[in-house]
Amino acid sequence: MSIQEKYKLKGCLNISGDKSISHRSLILGAMSIGQTEIHNLLESKDIMSTVNILRKLGVKIKKDNEVWIVNGVGTCGFKQPKQNLDSGNSGTTSRLMFGAVATNPINATFTGDKSLSSRPMSRVTNFLEDIGVKINLTKNNYLPVSIQGTQDCLPLKHIITKPSAQIKSSIMLAAINISGKTSIIEKQATRDHTEIMFKYLGIRFEKKIKKNGQTQIIINGPKEILAKKIHVASDPSSAAFFTVGALITPGSNIEIKNVCLNKTRIAYIKILKQMGGNILVKKVGKLSGESIGNIKVKYSHLKSVVINKKLAPYLIDEYPILAIAASRAKGVTKMQGLSELRYKESDRLKSIHENLIASKIDCSIRNDDLIIKGSNEQLIGNNKITTYHDHRIAMSFSILNLICKKSLKIDNLKCIEISYPKFKQDLKSILKNG
Ligand code: S3P
Repeated sequence: MSIQEKYKLKGCLNISGDKSISHRSLILGAMSIGQTEIHNLLESKDIMSTVNILRKLGVKIKKDNEVWIVNGVGTCGFKQPKQNLDSGNSGTTSRLMFGAVATNPINATFTGDKSLSSRPMSRVTNFLEDIGVKINLTKNNYLPVSIQGTQDCLPLKHIITKPSAQIKSSIMLAAINISGKTSIIEKQATRDHTEIMFKYLGIRFEKKIKKNGQTQIIINGPKEILAKKIHVASDPSSAAFFTVGALITPGSNIEIKNVCLNKTRIAYIKILKQMGGNILVKKVGKLSGESIGNIKVKYSHLKSVVINKKLAPYLIDEYPILAIAASRAKGVTKMQGLSELRYKESDRLKSIHENLIASKIDCSIRNDDLIIKGSNEQLIGNNKITTYHDHRIAMSFSILNLICKKSLKIDNLKCIEISYPKFKQDLKSILKNG
């Protein structure tokens, strides 16, 4: 009997809190006046990097039963840290915290692990230097990064050409504490959790879509933030692993509850539906400004798709698991314009390609496009998967593993703790014998 007939995914799941919203709830909680109660905070390594950095900046954070409590210090209340601020593996921690500390009169040195230390930082710090912050980068682009913050930052107009929610968010966090109008223009709109949380917390700003399709955000600072209870919606990027798992594993039928349905995050559902995926999304309400709902998924015969590069900012974390879906879809899937994937926790273009090839899946890279020829033939498995300590590569190939005859030898499953420590437990809870 093949594994395909052996396993299926069945049942109902409540998954952990969203990573992006968790970072923002901690950082904006720390910048608030009063106590912020955070419910359903994601307790992963990346989020703990943010917690630990905020603590080193003098913010008191504790966990009381299941609720995290952040004692805000205001927008200019960070204390001079006595040690380096270690962001671990987390790009979001370092890049967002650069902006948060930039307007405080302190010196802070940010460090990170090997992977983070090879990811570009000047894409954010260039904007902060423009407003008058003194910054020292390693080799002009990398961690360790020293920031000498100042309360005299300039209100400027920033034009962001690289679509990155992290760049925009970092400037927005700085702008809260700058006197005057900071204007941020994005050539292409990006994930909008920061805007949603600003709105939820009553931090006023203007957002316009210009005729040429560019977006403009104007923040007239300084602003004060009053603490407010935050409920973190479940992570749609984590839900994507089970969604694809159910689509490719015969006999599967699952429901994932209370997932964040932010439009800038669930483009993958649209793509999977275009591929013929039987997916039903039902909106059930809002949680701290974010739409939430339930996702029902059934095993489906998938077909290939062409994914336009314009969608990249809205699929950025889902390409690894979409590649797994494509490997089981009839025809040739083209994922276009994936250059940004090279700057994630690993060079994801390379790590997806290399591991699909190792798993005997027909795949190639042409310029920055990923081309995958799908098949529904039984996969033998038994090959090595090199994760490069990248959590999303480890989880994506754990899903492919469900349909391999012999287990894949994934070199590092521990890295999953970076974004989703409960992944294995949640997968087990819906993994049934056929
Ligand atoms: C994130 C934005 C994305 C995403 C990352 C989280 C955020 O990065 O890949 O996992 O929370 O703002 P970029 O905006 O740099 O592409």
